[in-house]
Amino acid sequence: MVKPLVVTQRRTARVLAIANQKGGVGKTTSSLNLAFALTQLSQRVLLMDLDPQATATSVLFGQAAIDLFRQKRTIAQVLLDDGPLQDAVVRAGEVISGRDVLFDFIGSHINLAGIDMRREPGFDAALQDALGVVRTSYDYVIIDAPQNLGTLTWMALGAADLVIIPVQTEPYDAMGVSMILDATRKVQRRLNTGLRIAGILPTRYSANLAIDREVLNHLITAMADIAPVIEAVPNSTVYSHAAWASRITLEASPKSRVVQVYVKIAQALVAGQPLPHAVLATTPELKSRLRSEVA
Ligand SMILES: Nc1ncnc2c1ncn2[C@@H]1O[C@H](COP(=O)(O)OP(=O)(O)OP(=O)(O)O)[C@@H](O)[C@H]1O
Ligand SMILES: [Mg+2]
Repeated sequence: MVKPLVVTQRRTARVLAIANQKGGVGKTTSSLNLAFALTQLSQRVLLMDLDPQATATSVLFGQAAIDLFRQKRTIAQVLLDDGPLQDAVVRAGEVISGRDVLFDFIGSHINLAGIDMRREPGFDAALQDALGVVRTSYDYVIIDAPQNLGTLTWMALGAADLVIIPVQTEPYDAMGVSMILDATRKVQRRLNTGLRIAGILPTRYSANLAIDREVLNHLITAMADIAPVIEAVPNSTVYSHAAWASRITLEASPKSRVVQVYVKIAQALVAGQPLPHAVLATTPELKSRLRSEVA
């Protein structure tokens, strides 16, 4: 009898960087919630904390984060000591400090802050290189980038297929978006021609505040020919409560209306559809402009 040919399907992960040089815009919140949402959709996910502040690492592991470093299981050891990336992966199902890991994870450590001093040929591509061995083990690798435009952000963009740029719905934050877009274009040109902008993600949006609506409308108009603007993440204490309890918002409050945008983004990614896009909010100024255009 002829044995059937067994076709083993090799996965190739999509690498999604969540980046913006601006601090506190929702990079870590978006990384954790998207990693969780994709896992809920049966995707195999690796979340990497690439921020020396190690916020995602402490949300997931608290005090046990230091054990990861002692065991040489952080991205600092991979990038600074040339350690194998597979050894730094904490597997989903592993229990650290009484807590289950929800998806595969690579932690960070403050030592990573010294990385900008490192000079080595092709160092900006070190993460892209290190990720090669695990790309076939996952559907998604999510990289939580730090709040600067240094080596780590270039590495994240250099390794990524897609970048989501969270932007707080605040005037100065919206103005600063051109810096990360400029860095993205340079990385596309010099390091990673495959990099695409999945979208700008407005965060902490209060639809009832005129200034937030103005800023959102400005982003949508200004980005028209540059990048998609994703449906805004509402501003809500549901996020702060979860953060305070060191929980992922979607895990802590799965039914909450304010977290559904992360579910929608994950669903669109998996379905290969465009991400849910932001729509122009109606403002008195916009209404009168539209009226004058119609007249
Ligand atoms: N949609 C939201 N509504 C309310 N609070 C939010 C929302 N998203 C994030 N936050 C809160 O804003 C703060 C900053 O968020 P987060 O840590 O995700 O930003 P970040 O860009 O990763 O910051 P950093 O640049 O320091 O790494 C956190 O306290 C978080 O709980
Ligand atoms: Mg962060």
